[in-house]
This record gives sequence, structure tokens and C-alpha cells, in this order.
Amino acid sequence: MKPGETMSGDEMVRLCKEHSMWTWAKGDDVNPLPVVRAEGIWLYGPNGERWMDFNSQLMSVNIGHGHPRVIDAIKRQLDTLIYTYPGTATPVRARVSKKLADLLPAHINTVFFTLGGAEANENAIKAARLYTGRFKILSRYRSYHGGTNATMQLTGDPRRWPSEPGSPGFIRVMDPNPYDYSFGDSDAEKVANNLRYLEEVIMYEGPQNIAAMFIETVTGTNGILPPPAGYLQGLRALLSKYGILLVCDEVMAGFGRTGKLFAFQHGDAPGAPFAPDIVTMAKGLTSSYVPLGCMAVSDAIAKHFKENVFWGGLTYNSHPIGLAAAEAAIDALIDEGMVENAARLQPVMTAHMERMKQKHPSVKAYRNIGLFGMMDLQKDAAGTPAAPYNGGSPAMGALGKFFRDNGMFTFVRWGSFMCNPPLCITEDELAQAFDIIDRGLAITDAAMS
Ligand SMILES: Cc1ncc(COP(=O)(O)O)c(C=O)c1O
Repeated sequence: MKPGETMSGDEMVRLCKEHSMWTWAKGDDVNPLPVVRAEGIWLYGPNGERWMDFNSQLMSVNIGHGHPRVIDAIKRQLDTLIYTYPGTATPVRARVSKKLADLLPAHINTVFFTLGGAEANENAIKAARLYTGRFKILSRYRSYHGGTNATMQLTGDPRRWPSEPGSPGFIRVMDPNPYDYSFGDSDAEKVANNLRYLEEVIMYEGPQNIAAMFIETVTGTNGILPPPAGYLQGLRALLSKYGILLVCDEVMAGFGRTGKLFAFQHGDAPGAPFAPDIVTMAKGLTSSYVPLGCMAVSDAIAKHFKENVFWGGLTYNSHPIGLAAAEAAIDALIDEGMVENAARLQPVMTAHMERMKQKHPSVKAYRNIGLFGMMDLQKDAAGTPAAPYNGGSPAMGALGKFFRDNGMFTFVRWGSFMCNPPLCITEDELAQAFDIIDRGLAITDAAMS
């Protein structure tokens, strides 16, 4: 078998299962989609099958698949300079560093490139500790920050459990939106109560020991949860009071997904742009065409590392191919109005979700900000989730199979499913997706007790 030779879908799946390992799954359980080509919002199988990509793969192909502008940029970079070591200056490194500095808030002008999101967060932990001289790190339970050793400890969701006991110094706190609990009815109440609780945790841990708090600006995999109104500003003020850095993990929420270029911009107030100390990104940075992550730091932190060694390094730091992909992917996202498209389609997606809720008794709740959305399903009128926390159910399994058999790819996780299409999707295509969802929800309706 040689590159270019055709292979049947069954053969592809058999060899992949036999000779490769899979993420977050037992190898025997996986049932991978055989994909040979992708374009725009569509994935294609070996026999002409077609699936709408309603999760942008890993919430990451923000500009859609196969964008010619990014492909051309990668080809041009391959023809000029493929790799140099991190101690070199290259035209593409100069251009992309400056581009990000221009796009980020005025006080953030310095970046450190990595290969993905976990490495961006690993380096942010390191930078925060070196800069503050403090050791402890706060994060929230409804979070995912990466699969490496330290980022697993930042992570709140159950993927952390098998990595325990982890390295010390990581303290996890409740989110303003806990899973099955509420800090109050109104946003103002939730924010006030959650931050009062957080301040007490900070007191118990000793503020002088805490370097940083990491948040997913909008929680992704663990619920697509925009923060309650006032939370970002309140959190910023509380952390500043104790000299604790705020790290916004924009790996999933960044690059247009929420209808703004960066999700923390939802926290902007007139004349007072929201100001994280560190921003981490990946995924949408290149729309996943090439692996690349990035940690961006405030001028104060950057100054520290001009005068002190940054004790971090990666062979592929500032890789020219990743940077060429990032440059073109960001340009395509912005020039083609995809951030605005996500904002424009936000109410359209919400209206589809509301229509599903009105029609289907198994729909418990839904949320979306921009084109970052999720629907929660229930198995009875009392609101019991259609599958338990960290578990599955036959009905949710059948729903996932229905989506796939009917031309749609998305993530079905626990009692919920994701609605995260590429940001180039049109209103008609969004309606097509909800037509499939509408038919699929008959399965979870029928499973209700
Ligand atoms: C919010 C968030 N942070 C970090 C990561 C880790 O990124 P990567 O898988 O590129 O290491 C992810 C991946 O899903 C993520 O969603």
C-alpha cells in the first residue's frame, strides 16, 4: 500500500484501530469516521458519503476546511523556509508576533509560540510562577486545559482523575455555574456569591502563595457556559486585589467562536477593555491546519522576561509552517467577516434551539454564544439528564448514531450534544443541521419515562 493508492473505509478503520492508539477511549470501543477529504463545512468519506461538520472537528476548524488562502500560504512557506531553530528570527515569526500584538489588548504585545493548547497553558503556569515567585495555581472544576501533566491538574473534568495524584499546588474551585447547584437566581447574585466564596478560598490558601487563576473565558467542553454578567470584571478586580494573575484560556473560545475575536472581549466596558494578564490560544489560531499554540503575556510580564531568563523551550517553538498557517487563517477569519457571521447567526441558532425545546420534551436546556452551542437532554419531565455526569445511555448512543447515519458529525457527550459549526456556515446550512437534529430528537423523546 502506497500513498495515493485508494483504500476502502473498512480497511482504513481496521488498520487505524489495529496500529494506533486513541485519545480518551478504549481502542476496542472506538468507531472512527473514515474521512478522505474535507471542504468548507463538509467532510467526505471514501464512498462519496458526506457529513456536515457540526463541531468544527475539535471546535477548532473555525474558518472551515480546505481554505485555499491557508493552503497557498503553507505551500509558499514550504518553498521558502520550512524550519529553523527557536533562536532564529524569521519574517513569518516577525509578522505573526506583530499581528497578534495588534489584535490583543493594548497592554499585551509579546507572545511565546508552542505546538498546541496544553503547551501554551504549561508555559503560562511556568511564566506565572517565575514572574510572581508564587507557587499555587487556581482553576475551576468545569474546565479542560490540556492533557499534559500539569494541565491535567488545572483541568477540573473527570479526565483528570486517572492522572492523580498530580503535582502539588493546584487548587480547583467551583464555577459561577456549577453542575447541579446554584450560587443564586440572578447573575448579580451568582457573581457576588461565587466571588465571596472564591475570596474565602484565597484566604485559606494564602494569597501570597497564589500565582495565577486560569479560566476558560467561556467554558467549552464542560457545558458551553458563558460567564454570568459581571463575573469577568468582578473576578479581575478580586484577583488584582491580591496580586494574582488572570490567565484567560482562549484555546477553544478564541478566534471568533463566540462572535468576538477573543471571548474575553465580552467583558469589555466602555473605555475599559477587559485586561487578562496572560492569554493562551491554539485551535482557531491556525484553524487547526497546522499544530500551533501561543501564550501571550502583558507588558509587565514581558519586561520581567527581558530581564530574567524564561526557563522554557520547545524544538518547534515559532515553527515557520505553523506561523504561515496562522497568518493566513487569521486573515481569512477577519477579512471574510466570519467573526461577524458568528455574531449574526447567534440569534438564528438560538431560535432553532428554542424551536427544538418547544417541540421535543427531551430537550432540557440549551445555550449558545456566537456559534458556540450545546443542547442538554433529559430522560424525564423532572429534568434528570439523559445520561449521567461522566456517563452514557442507550438513547444518547442512538442519537449519536442517528446524526452520523443522517449526514452530520458532532460530539455527543454525557446527556448533551454540541452545536459548533465552522464560522463560515450559512443560515441555510444551519437550518439543514437543525432539520437533522429535529428528526434525531424523536429518539430521546421516545426514551423518556
Ligand atoms: C480550553 C482548552 N484549553 C486547552 C486545550 C488543550 O489544547 P491541545 O489539545 O491543543 O493541547 C483544549 C483542548 O481541547 C481546550 O479546549
